[in-house]
Amino acid sequence: MTTASENVFRILCVAGARPNFMKLAPLFRAFSHCPSLSPILVHTGQHYDEQMSGQFFRDLELPPPAHNLEVGSGSHAQQTAEIIRRFEPVVLQHNPHAVLVVGDVNSTAACALVAKKLGIFVIHVEAGLRSFDRSMPEEINRLVTDAISDLLLVTEQSGVCNLKREGTAPEKISFVGNLMIDSLYFHLERSRNSRVLDKLGLRGQHFGLVTLHRPANVDDPAQFQQLLGGLNMIAEDIALYFPAHPRTQARLDGHGLSPRIRLLDPLSYLDFVCLMSHSAVVFTDSGGVQEETTALGIPCLTVRNNTERPVTISEGTNRLAGTTSDSVLAAWRDLKANPVQGRVPKLWDGKAAERSVQAIYNALRAKPGAEDSNS
Ligand code: UD1
Repeated sequence: MTTASENVFRILCVAGARPNFMKLAPLFRAFSHCPSLSPILVHTGQHYDEQMSGQFFRDLELPPPAHNLEVGSGSHAQQTAEIIRRFEPVVLQHNPHAVLVVGDVNSTAACALVAKKLGIFVIHVEAGLRSFDRSMPEEINRLVTDAISDLLLVTEQSGVCNLKREGTAPEKISFVGNLMIDSLYFHLERSRNSRVLDKLGLRGQHFGLVTLHRPANVDDPAQFQQLLGGLNMIAEDIALYFPAHPRTQARLDGHGLSPRIRLLDPLSYLDFVCLMSHSAVVFTDSGGVQEETTALGIPCLTVRNNTERPVTISEGTNRLAGTTSDSVLAAWRDLKANPVQGRVPKLWDGKAAERSVQAIYNALRAKPGAEDSNS
């Protein structure tokens, strides 16, 4: 992909929150085979503790970040503003040829904005996904980021259609597949060495997995209570294991959980993959888990009224379960009566990183001034 006389393009890659880390890891492996691209990892510190960040860097073999902005938590405005304030000097210091942002978290939109205002080429990984629900903070982050990105790397066909409908120039869009699934396939074998099944006494057992953290599901006590009521009833049929995000843990106090629902701290990536790949069903409101269960062929009931990842329903094992105790229970009963069969979507084949790196290289080479931009 390169000759000795060619430019090396510096790319600042932004990692902010947990779901970003598994998408960046395969990209960094692929970058290491492309000497023309020189990635520099910046961690905004949106997720900062060992359980949400540190153990993911180790499991995924991500290099230590060159910069950690340590923004921590705050309101959306505070967190976004702090990322913007602290990221700008890093961009000025490196003067990169591109800034690469991932997914739909506050770090994604904030860093894209900083880069674009400095006239720097913006690459968005996982572009084009739309829930069409603007009450979700992630949907706002997706819209803002895609509107100002120069190269939009897309995971599923719906993303291409959404971007074209919004007027994105087709030459900016590249359907490369799903980096999160690259990570899943890469680590699946290693996850079999995880001791989590033995620790929880789950080897050979029939169990379900639960993850819930979306503000719309857990921030309002009445809504959260609804969902826990539904899960308590489902737990009469199947034991449930619930690794809870810090947002969820903070709100669980005082809510009665069935003794057949076992609450766990957030798991490492390898432990989570191990538990998910052995579970009979997953109840979730996470975007990434909808995709991972589709790739693994595990039934997934999404505790939402919409999804920005429609291919997980049209082709995969995902079903929308709504957000009331009745709807979630009904979805569970329906699943028991009508087991789902899915197939793995197009380009979810473990090679998305190679295609992404090729698309990035081609786009940077094609940029006006690329020949003499290596200052
Ligand atoms: C963020 C993303 C969401 C993503 C999720 C995955 C936005 C708007 N949301 O939501 O898209 O699905 O990450 O996890 O960017 N906390 C810790 N330790 C940490 C990080 C957070 O205890 O390392 C606590 C915070 O103090 C806060 C809560 O978790 O109380 C929520 O964190 P926050 O970064 O606001 O957003 P998430 O809900 O994690």
